Amino acid sequence: MQSGMKPLGKLRLGINIDHVATVRNARGGDYPDPLRAAKMAQEAGADGITAHLREDRRHISDADIDGLMEMLTVPLNFEMAATAEMQAIALRHKPHAVCIVPEKREELTTEGGLEVAREENKLAHFIAPIREAGCRVSIFIAADMRQIEAAHRIGADIVEIHAGPYCDAFSEGHYDVANDELAKIKEMAAFGHSLGLEMHAGHGITYDTVKPIAALPEVMELNIGHFIIGEAIFIGLTPAMAQMRRLMDEARA
Ligand code: PXP
Repeated sequence: MQSGMKPLGKLRLGINIDHVATVRNARGGDYPDPLRAAKMAQEAGADGITAHLREDRRHISDADIDGLMEMLTVPLNFEMAATAEMQAIALRHKPHAVCIVPEKREELTTEGGLEVAREENKLAHFIAPIREAGCRVSIFIAADMRQIEAAHRIGADIVEIHAGPYCDAFSEGHYDVANDELAKIKEMAAFGHSLGLEMHAGHGITYDTVKPIAALPEVMELNIGHFIIGEAIFIGLTPAMAQMRRLMDEARA
C-alpha cells in the first residue's frame, strides 16, 4: 500500500469486451462473439463487464447490449456518450451502471475525459432520469479537481479517473511524466472520495501499470479491456485475467 489508509474494500475488476467485438466486426460476421467472452470473464471471476456502445457502432452492437442484459449475472457497466439516443437505450435497459464518456467519431479510442465543468447544466439534466431509473451514474474524467467537483455537483455516483495519461507515459518510457500523472490520480482519488464519490479508474492499464493504481485505497474498481483482450490472444482470457487479479491483490495487500 502507498499510504497509511486502509483500502475501502475489495478492488473490483471490470472487463471491457469492446475489442472482442472489434475483431468480430473486422470480418462482418458473428465470430468471435463478445457475449462468449463476457460469459468466460464472468466465470473467471470478473466483478463486472463493461461495454461501450459507440454512436457509430464500430465495435459493440445494440444486439450485444440486449444479449449482455439477458445473460449477465454480474453488473453491466454501460459506457455511452451523452446523447438522446444513448439515454433512451440506457432507460430501456436500466443497466447496473451507466458510464458517460466523451466521444468523437474520428478518435481511435476514448481520448480524453468528459468536460463536465463546461456542460454542467446539460449533464445534470441528462443524468437525472438515468439515476431515477435506478442506474448508478459514472463519469469518465481526467484527474482534474475542477471536473471532479463538477461531477459531484451534477449528482454523479461515481467518477472513473482516466488512467491513460499515466499508462501511456509509462509505456512510452517517460517515467517522470508517468510519476506526475500518477500523483494526480492519487490526489484526485482521495479528493473525489472526500466528496462522497465512489472512485474508479480505467483506460490503458496493463500488467506494468496496474499496481500503483490498485494500491490507491480509495479506488474501488478498475475497468480494463484492450490489454487483457490482447493478452488473451497469447495465453487465453482466463489466465490473462488471473494474472491481472493477482497483481491487483498484491498491490492491495
Ligand atoms: N474505461 C473507459 C471509460 C473507457 O472508455 C475504456 C476504453 O473503452 C476503458 C475503461 C478500458 O480501456 P482499455 O481498453 O484501454 O483497457
